[in-house]
This record gives sequence, structure tokens and C-alpha cells, in this order.
Amino acid sequence: MSQLTIALTKGRILIETLPLLAAAGIEPAEDISKSRKLAFDTNLPHVKLLVLRGSDVPTYVQFGAADMGVSGKDMLLEHGGDGLYSLVDLGIARCKLMTAAIKGQPEKVGRIKVATKYVNVARRFYAEQGRQADFIKLYGAMELAPIMGLADEIVDIVDTGNTLRANGLESKIEIADISSRLIANKASMKMKHSLMQPIIDSISSTVNASV
Ligand code: PRP
Repeated sequence: MSQLTIALTKGRILIETLPLLAAAGIEPAEDISKSRKLAFDTNLPHVKLLVLRGSDVPTYVQFGAADMGVSGKDMLLEHGGDGLYSLVDLGIARCKLMTAAIKGQPEKVGRIKVATKYVNVARRFYAEQGRQADFIKLYGAMELAPIMGLADEIVDIVDTGNTLRANGLESKIEIADISSRLIANKASMKMKHSLMQPIIDSISSTVNASV
């Protein structure tokens, strides 16, 4: 039987993904949270799980290093989606991708600086808005950038809004509604259809049952 590799996003998304996999009959052979391993066997001899940074999941799936994956919509937008299908909206890890700036400050006119880890998304968005901007790539703690004078605005995900508030920022414009998606490599979908389709169907029906 051919092997199936599923790339998971570590952190909050992983915690919400494991019950969906369990409902599809896939369980890690050991406790992922207690291990430094990055690849895990499962109760099914032909299924392996990878635990990756969110930004790397679309890349693994695009190039077929994983056949399927669970990825935030934010990461898919940033990646661009080449070589992969977005199959199921899992409805987990919901948040919004937003612009934000220092609370109460009037919008800066002219060319602005935008700090974000979503440089591709931000570039497209500000161009659509007709606003001239330069983009500064950061890997975390985006909320610090306006306060420290590194940028005028940020593009980041907002859930409760606590991080913005705690750092004197306010959200401005919503760029996209975010949730996690089940994705698949396009070639794998053809070659391993009989292995993948039951898993996709099972996850999909679990998600629909909980809506
Ligand atoms: C995300 C995001 C914000 C925060 C938003 O960071 O980058 O900082 O959550 O959530 P809130 O609106 O509920 O405060 P995360 O904790 O995922 O860490 P990261 O920056 O490493 O992605």
C-alpha cells in the first residue's frame, strides 16, 4: 500500500486538528505535545504525520513532500496556492487578517511603512487600496513595530484583539476572514485518490456535523 503523509500546523491549529483526524480514524502513535520529533507514525501503518510551522505547510504540500495538510487561510494567501487544492474549510482557528495602527492616530498620508510576516498579501492589498507602501518583513511581535517607529501600520491576524489593545494599537481594515483548511497536493489527489478521498470525506462530514 502506498504511503500517505499529512502535514499539520503546530500550535493552536494542531490542538483543534487532532480530534478531526481521530474522527477519521487517524491517531498519532505517541503524544505529539510531549515529543521533539517532527514526524510521527500513526495507528495506520501507511499514514505519517508531520508537525510544521504554519508557513511551511503549503510548501511541503505544493512540492509533494506531504500529500495533504492543514493550513491557515492566512498562510495559503501568503503562499499563493500553487500546486495545491484547498478542499475543506475546517472552521477551526478562526480569526481575521487585518491592518492595524497606533490607536487614535490619523491615517498617514503618502508613502507608508508596513511591517508584517504576510508581505505578499500586504503588497496586493495596499496596491488594491491605491496606497503606496514599503514592506518590512517580520517573523513575530508585529504589534511592537508601530510603537517603536519601525512601521506606520502592520498586517497581522487578530483574534480577541487583546494583543493590539495591550500594545496601544487598533485594527483598521479587514483583509480576510481566516480559518484552517484541509489542502492536498494536486498530483497526490490523482495518484492516491483511493487513500485520500475517504479521509477527506470523513473530515468533511465531521466538520459539517459540528456546524
Ligand atoms: C497571533 C498574532 C497576534 C495574536 C492575535 O500570534 O500574531 O499577535 O495572535 O491574537 P489576539 O487578537 O487574540 O490577541 P500568536 O500567538 O499566534 O503567535 P505568533 O506571533 O508567533 O504567530
